[in-house]
Amino acid sequence: MAIIYDEKAQTFTIHTRLTTYQMHVGRFGVLEHLYYGRRIDDCNLDYLIRQSDVGFSPNFYESAPDRTYSLDFVPQEYPGCGVGDFRVPSIELVQADGSFAADFRYESHNICQKLYQIPGLPAIYDENEGGETLKICLKDAASDLRLELYYGVLEEKDMIARAACLVNISNQTVSIQKIHSACLDFAFGDWEMLHFYGRHCMERMAERVKLAHGVTAIESRRGTSSHQHNPGAILCAPDATETSGECCGLLLLYSGEFAIEAECDQMDQVRVTLGLGGNDFTWQLEPGERFYTPQALLSFSDRGLEHLSHNYHDTIRHNICRGAYKLARRPILINNWEATYFDFDEEKILAIAKQAAELGIEMMVLDDGWFGARDGDEAGLGDWSVNYAKLPHGLSGLSEKIHALGMKFGLWFEPEMVNEDSDLYRAHPDWAFQIPGRKPARGRFQLVLDMGRKQVREYIFEQICKVLDQTKIDYIKWDFNRSICDVYARDLPKERQGEARHRFVLGVYELLEQLTARYPEILFEGCSGGGGRFDAGMLHYTPQIWCSDDTDAIERLAIQHGTSFFYPISAVGAHISASPNHQTGRKTPLNTRGIVAMAGTFGYELDLGKLSDCEKMLVREQTHRFGQFADLTQNGKYFRLTGTQGDFMAWEFAAKDGESALVNVVFTHVRANELGKCLRLRGLNPDAHYTLEWILDPQMEQRKAELDTKYENRILNGEALMNAGIVFPMFGGVYPAFQVWIKKVR
Ligand code: GLA
Repeated sequence: MAIIYDEKAQTFTIHTRLTTYQMHVGRFGVLEHLYYGRRIDDCNLDYLIRQSDVGFSPNFYESAPDRTYSLDFVPQEYPGCGVGDFRVPSIELVQADGSFAADFRYESHNICQKLYQIPGLPAIYDENEGGETLKICLKDAASDLRLELYYGVLEEKDMIARAACLVNISNQTVSIQKIHSACLDFAFGDWEMLHFYGRHCMERMAERVKLAHGVTAIESRRGTSSHQHNPGAILCAPDATETSGECCGLLLLYSGEFAIEAECDQMDQVRVTLGLGGNDFTWQLEPGERFYTPQALLSFSDRGLEHLSHNYHDTIRHNICRGAYKLARRPILINNWEATYFDFDEEKILAIAKQAAELGIEMMVLDDGWFGARDGDEAGLGDWSVNYAKLPHGLSGLSEKIHALGMKFGLWFEPEMVNEDSDLYRAHPDWAFQIPGRKPARGRFQLVLDMGRKQVREYIFEQICKVLDQTKIDYIKWDFNRSICDVYARDLPKERQGEARHRFVLGVYELLEQLTARYPEILFEGCSGGGGRFDAGMLHYTPQIWCSDDTDAIERLAIQHGTSFFYPISAVGAHISASPNHQTGRKTPLNTRGIVAMAGTFGYELDLGKLSDCEKMLVREQTHRFGQFADLTQNGKYFRLTGTQGDFMAWEFAAKDGESALVNVVFTHVRANELGKCLRLRGLNPDAHYTLEWILDPQMEQRKAELDTKYENRILNGEALMNAGIVFPMFGGVYPAFQVWIKKVR
């Protein structure tokens, strides 16, 4: 039993394998947060609540004459608003009488032996019917509103999935201004926040900041989770490293606007609250209605960031992703985008596919431009019928020919968008977001369809089904290429306009749910100008997401490094593209590009016809190598062996049973007169013995003999490899990279 209720003390305790979470019903019925951290067995921690007569911290009316209890400093599970807690609230309501207040106190609870699900929103699940749920009901007596707090527990993965639901049991409408998924009040600790910021072509840069007094907020106001901030953050103790120290992750399963607010208060306590956010969110809740928040995944590690990442990787792979490809190795694909952009026809695509099939590539993906009048990004979006000028035998003709090569066939869609120059827009201009009387801002010449509208979703669903029912399609790249603004939902009254963005996300989820249910064999890959909607919500529908439009292997190192804190390798779309790179102009060796792309789902995005015979041989070897190591890279544990700042970056995949590992090293800076480098490995069995096989680029061959002599016939135990490490020379040349295969011999 992971969830324990102590009736006498009115304490709720959630034990996971290594952590304990505790709260209790305190004085006056407030649900107080007591503890979240390393596992503590058999202990009631309510002594931790500190009370004092604090100036300017008001007390409950019913507590008089006692002046020592105030919401202003008591740690709470879900702080209300307007009644004496001046820190960031988790909920803000405008009550029917116009007042801004919510004061939720304990009413009842219920524990059940399965994980809760949320209507219309992604949530963790467990195929083996494991998991437990604690539901605690609170009530704001003055307004007759009930708040249900949900805690879904995956005991073995040290994961707690929180969500809230507001139920209007009154007979009046209430206006929700803010409703977050979870709050964590840390009464003790000196926390730093690790978060992931960026921009298009530079997503998820890891940044660790000390929390100053006041509120530190990260959020998206762009309609999607965004390139600019990822909806997850990690609180770290100042001494937390990859392998030691305390850290606590908070990750939202949501693909729209969000906010994560961390406040260091007057007493040096830290509150973090996260959930829906951003831009003008409001929601009118009618009598009898319920409003569910998205889920927030909390995990705590006292063994550093790496352990925390492993908890998230395992949960996302096993309890969030779904479908036929959830745990399966994904096909090695080639995408024509950077090879042809819009300038292709059947002949060009088939030439790429033929060449690819010969080199061991398993799927041809036809990107943007196959439909409507789409010869550039000005026209055609919304018209999902084939462009016969480019594909005279239609999609079916092309698909058949590609399948005849023994390859799978994938197709690009951008279903939530429309160009004004399209038949769809000409027929239904009112389906796109735009505010009456204003000209909408265009993004890449396109407008956003209001996916909150059933009629729009039904039309898009039909159009996509028409394509999928007529043609054998094995994969869909689901793109989204602008931020959302000029939001106005024509089917909603003016007092409900603040609901449009959330309804949009709910609509997208509904559409994806319908499509993935109807076509369970299709592999979906999410995309938003690369990684602009790279979140755990999307991963419930699309088990992989194109990580970034920046395909430069050296730029990708930091992007993939930041992505790895929450997201598993199997979720990271990564391709080898041309050199010089199209985004940066940088030249990198094919071997280096391959090693970086192998830290993802792996594929190609270039014109294979332009490669030399030598390079083609290397491609053949790479596709073989990816297959050889796929089990290790996709199912093994991932270790960040370095940060982003040194002369090289290194990461490792280690089999969960310690049988083997693959170490990857990419030099970002080569220097003269160097002694060589040392790198300590992780995730091996300390008592097992291993041999090392160096996988070097041909340009590094001159050093191979040196390495072979040093390591030949040498068997090293896990203890040596993890504590003393391996040494290797400073390879010269342009961004050299290599791998080391660590194999257990006994
Ligand atoms: C986005 C994607 C690219 C490509 C283009 C096509 O930018 O991230 O990979 O599909 O759209 O227009």
